[in-house]
Amino acid sequence: MDHFTIKHGVMHAEDVPLPAIADAVGTPVYVYSRATLERHARVFREGLAAVPDKLIAFAVKSNPNLAVLKVLQREGYGADVVSVGEMRRALAAGIAPAMIVFSGVGKTGAELRAALEAGIGQFNIESEEEGLELAAIAAEMGLVAECALRINPDVDAGTHDKISTGKADNKFGVPIDQAGQIFGRLAGLPGVRLRGVAVHIGSQLADLAPLEAAFAKVGALVTALRGAGHVITHVDLGGGLGVPYKAGEVFPSPAEYGAMVARVTKDWGVILIFEPGRVIAGNAGVLLTRVVRVKRGLNHPFVIVDAAMNDLARPALYGAYHDFVAVRPRGADMVANIVGPICETGDTFAMGRVCDHLEAGDLAVFRTAGAYGATMASSYNSRGFVAEVLVDGDKFAVVADRIDPGAIMDAERVPEWLA
Ligand code: LLP
Repeated sequence: MDHFTIKHGVMHAEDVPLPAIADAVGTPVYVYSRATLERHARVFREGLAAVPDKLIAFAVKSNPNLAVLKVLQREGYGADVVSVGEMRRALAAGIAPAMIVFSGVGKTGAELRAALEAGIGQFNIESEEEGLELAAIAAEMGLVAECALRINPDVDAGTHDKISTGKADNKFGVPIDQAGQIFGRLAGLPGVRLRGVAVHIGSQLADLAPLEAAFAKVGALVTALRGAGHVITHVDLGGGLGVPYKAGEVFPSPAEYGAMVARVTKDWGVILIFEPGRVIAGNAGVLLTRVVRVKRGLNHPFVIVDAAMNDLARPALYGAYHDFVAVRPRGADMVANIVGPICETGDTFAMGRVCDHLEAGDLAVFRTAGAYGATMASSYNSRGFVAEVLVDGDKFAVVADRIDPGAIMDAERVPEWLA
């Protein structure tokens, strides 16, 4: 459930009519709903009520906006970060260092050092090489890094190939059949304390079965590690729960997910860490756009909107579906190709889509754009970076300024020897 609904013929975010945001901030603009973020945060936590000891660490990559992070910090969430940039955002939002976990296959020495200095709660080590480097840096700093070893369980998450992370040939984690030995070698080093294991098999999962299969493998590994004398206190189960992008789609609920987790992990005796992103932020945001013009097409008209693949990359990158609806529906439909202004055919949001009848100047939204939306924007075609707005009841605030193409150009220069 979200708080983007048509009231008196006009789509609102909570109690704010979207045209008021378009007038004040311009388009395209991402609009987030605080009430929806909070609702999702609570539903996810309640789904895990049967799990006694846990940390829910929001996957910052899905929506790193500071105001969004602040909403989640106030809900008691920690953060899963994959760069020092994300770590700084989590800290700036007031998330305690101890509630930050750092994942990612390519953490640089400088990033490891910065995260050690910040005193983050857990490093999810993705290779023996990384573990060796972290141990050396921490020992040199006179610190001990709290670590989990990320394993690759070789489970097919059954999602889009580009967002699958748990198959043997994916770059993430260490192969599960070598995990015991690698764990043993790293655990003997000064500078690191290996306290657990981590797993994340992919994103936008429509089915709990692959998650359960991966968790079962992790459970067996925990038993084996304990059998070898290691003390295992933490297991990070990652994120990945999918969300409906189309009206009527049904996905496993947080309650069903939580029941499965509680069942599979009941004898583990560890603190469980979760890293949800999309399930919290996805349906808490829309991308508000204006129709530039409607152009005749061979089969269907092209509805050309002022948002483009640089603002919302998912359709171009993954062929992803985003619902597209009018802000002031006229009660009539059309079949249209929905495209942006960018000069490549990839800048297509939908072909032959049945949608609300739209005319030049109308406002419309792409739904389910709160996760992996603004965060994946670029300035391709020398377009700026889109603005972001957070709604709370009947008020709203700009929580990220639109970055003008001129400001981006200001960071560039022609060398003297070329002028
Ligand atoms: N933990 C780790 C280690 C991850 O790599 C990810 C996502 C998450 C947690 C959060 O997963 P979620 O709960 O959001 O599914 N750009 C793609 C999604 C990439 C996800 C990458 N990793 C998209 O737009 O679909």
